[in-house]
Amino acid sequence: MDSRVKKIREAAEFIREAIGGKTPEVGIVLGSGLGKLGDAIEAEAVIPYAKIPHFAKSTAIGHKGNFIFGKLAGKEVCAMQGRFHYYEGYPMEQVTLPIRVMAALGIKALFVSNAAGGLNQDFSVGDLMIICDHINLLPNPLIGPNFAEFGERFPDMTAAYDRGLIEKAEKIAKKVRIPVRKGIYLGNTGPSYETPAEVRFYRMIGADAVGMSTVPEVLVARHCGIPVFGMSVITNVSNIDTASATLNDGDDVVRAADAAADRMCRLFQKLIETL
Ligand code: HPA
Repeated sequence: MDSRVKKIREAAEFIREAIGGKTPEVGIVLGSGLGKLGDAIEAEAVIPYAKIPHFAKSTAIGHKGNFIFGKLAGKEVCAMQGRFHYYEGYPMEQVTLPIRVMAALGIKALFVSNAAGGLNQDFSVGDLMIICDHINLLPNPLIGPNFAEFGERFPDMTAAYDRGLIEKAEKIAKKVRIPVRKGIYLGNTGPSYETPAEVRFYRMIGADAVGMSTVPEVLVARHCGIPVFGMSVITNVSNIDTASATLNDGDDVVRAADAAADRMCRLFQKLIETL
């Protein structure tokens, strides 16, 4: 057996045993400062990443490092309270391993979230953005021999973010009066924030928000044929003024995400309820 597949199977087997053989319907990835949703889950198992075979350690700020299984909005879900980033030095195989593990556990949909910088000049700190599409400036995690057990060599990405889920989320947001934006997420490696010249460039190529995660997970989930819903919390607005006193700062990002997390949690829960 391919050693990569063996790792996925071993991690999935470990979790399956820890959750009493149950099948989560939805997988959730909670980004920087957005771990709160994990507290809303009626947890049946909270497994620190360090205990799961082949999982990396979560070193990023605002990332707790727990794999949670339990009930949320009447559904069995599993959630990553914190994710792995390429900038932490992990190879893409390890960054995306949890997604294939969740696929092996049987999830039928993946919800991803992140803290992001607002490139769109209409955006403000605290805005929620439904991700409609992405631009990938990270290495593609599907490079290498194809995992034929999971999906095809050249997966289509014309609808990487599920149209039906986007429509439903917009309707729910309107009904519960949570303002939402829609836009394109640009994923780059980080860990440095963008220069003013990069901000101008990313705006020019059509991105609305920029971050250092999510895209690899989405590519892997889509390779497995899993529908994806994504949301960015705008935690800072990207700056093109080199003389400005507002500099990007990781602690500010986590604080802003935390302040917006309740709204995002409510939307995720309402949307999961409809699945
Ligand atoms: N740039 C990149 N990643 C981010 C940002 C940003 O401005 N804010 C939160 N994550």
